[in-house]
Amino acid sequence: SAPFGDSVAMAAEKAAKVTRYAGKAGQKVDLVAPAGVVADRVVFWSVGERAKLSPQDTVELGGAIFAHLHMTGSTSVTVIDDADTADMALVAEGILLRAYRFDRYRTKEDADKKPTLKAATLVADDAAAERFAVREGVARGVYLTRDLTSEPPNVLHPESFAERVRDLEELGIEVSILDEAYLKEHGFNALLAVGQGSTKESRVAIMRWNGKGDDSAPVAFLGKGVTFDTGGISIKPSEGMDQMKWDMGGAGIVTGAMCALAARKAKANVIGVVGLVENMPDGNAQRPGDVVTSLSGQTIEVLNTDAEGRLVLADILWHVKETYKPELMVDLATLTGAMIVALGSEYAGIFSNNDELADRLLAAGAETGDKVWRFPLHKNYDKMIDTPTADMKNIGGRGAGSITAAQFLQRFVGDTPWTHIDVAGVVWSEKNMTLSEKGATGYGVRLLDTFIASHYEAN
Ligand code: BES
Ligand code: MN
Ligand code: ZN
Repeated sequence: SAPFGDSVAMAAEKAAKVTRYAGKAGQKVDLVAPAGVVADRVVFWSVGERAKLSPQDTVELGGAIFAHLHMTGSTSVTVIDDADTADMALVAEGILLRAYRFDRYRTKEDADKKPTLKAATLVADDAAAERFAVREGVARGVYLTRDLTSEPPNVLHPESFAERVRDLEELGIEVSILDEAYLKEHGFNALLAVGQGSTKESRVAIMRWNGKGDDSAPVAFLGKGVTFDTGGISIKPSEGMDQMKWDMGGAGIVTGAMCALAARKAKANVIGVVGLVENMPDGNAQRPGDVVTSLSGQTIEVLNTDAEGRLVLADILWHVKETYKPELMVDLATLTGAMIVALGSEYAGIFSNNDELADRLLAAGAETGDKVWRFPLHKNYDKMIDTPTADMKNIGGRGAGSITAAQFLQRFVGDTPWTHIDVAGVVWSEKNMTLSEKGATGYGVRLLDTFIASHYEAN
């Protein structure tokens, strides 16, 4: 407390005594500053044992600091580390992540309910400032994912989502948008079948970031972008159907991750591909019982029009495998309610045909806090999507709903190393978290970014 003078030191000492402060991680002494001190308040915040502070703990520390102060009336904060060991770039990342708020459509909020904290100053060396540019790039990607996930479904539909992707050209990402005419001509019939009941046209948006500057095979990220999922003719119950605006969560993660990689100028070749459709019931909608011929040539009996995400992914997985011959593919999708039953909102489930790839994602998950847990694939689960009518059906049996969905996807990846991440439980949160307010979490951007940084980046 020395830099603040004796009055603060004395007040802090007393406050520590009367609040049972013991220096445990996260404990703090929070003082309204005595008269004569320039600051509004002085908060002494214990990080606990230094050696135990992981990078992710440091990010979360920033988030906790922001959450503690943003409603207090103070407009700025200065963060000082008395031991000068915490990575201030990570503290700043945490502050940025927690500071996001989606309030674009609130025109009448009382001034006293709005956050006041507008600026943060972190006392650190120049190296931290350089690292901060990188962390800020990543946070920018998380913000984009949250924006896309939060937008209402009348605003964000396949065509407008594609336009938001187009905006990434500004960062040096090469963008191409496949429109409905192109998709029809080239046989993306499974994807188009999902969108055919909607008045909005379907789209596939392709983002290429060539950060290595050579023509080596890219890593491919693919996302389910169902901008609204009514279930189609197999319609969902009305209760809670509004939540299906975030059924584009996988596509939101892929778009945000591409933004992050470009914003921090990652030295990696990565492509991001999102399948954008709206699943509506209508005179032109697909019916339960329809048989569609997917881009791969394999036929699918659509027994439930609400199992639509796998139809979208089937065509884009095949397209990416054939067209870009990627080193590996990772798809992300809010694919099954069963995933939420299994893991809740703590972990996402991963399914992979490649142990090394799965292990790399598990490690990136542990490092970033975007945690993943591996589930099995097996030929006996695969059999559950066989049908006498076509090459496969789009639903499995009674159990293992997340796994049979993954087995379906596996039929479209060939020998390419591949992982499916079912993010149904993690893209949206009903409660405030350390790094996000209730609402879109931005889950997955930091997972994919760290995955690339750890294994696919030239130095
Ligand atoms: N988008 C849903 C999955 C979902 C449900 C995500 C709830 C987040 C919250 C997906 O399209 C779906 O409807 N899946 C069905 C599959 C079933 C018909 C085989 C499901 O999980 O019930
Ligand atoms: Mn559905
Ligand atoms: Zn869906």
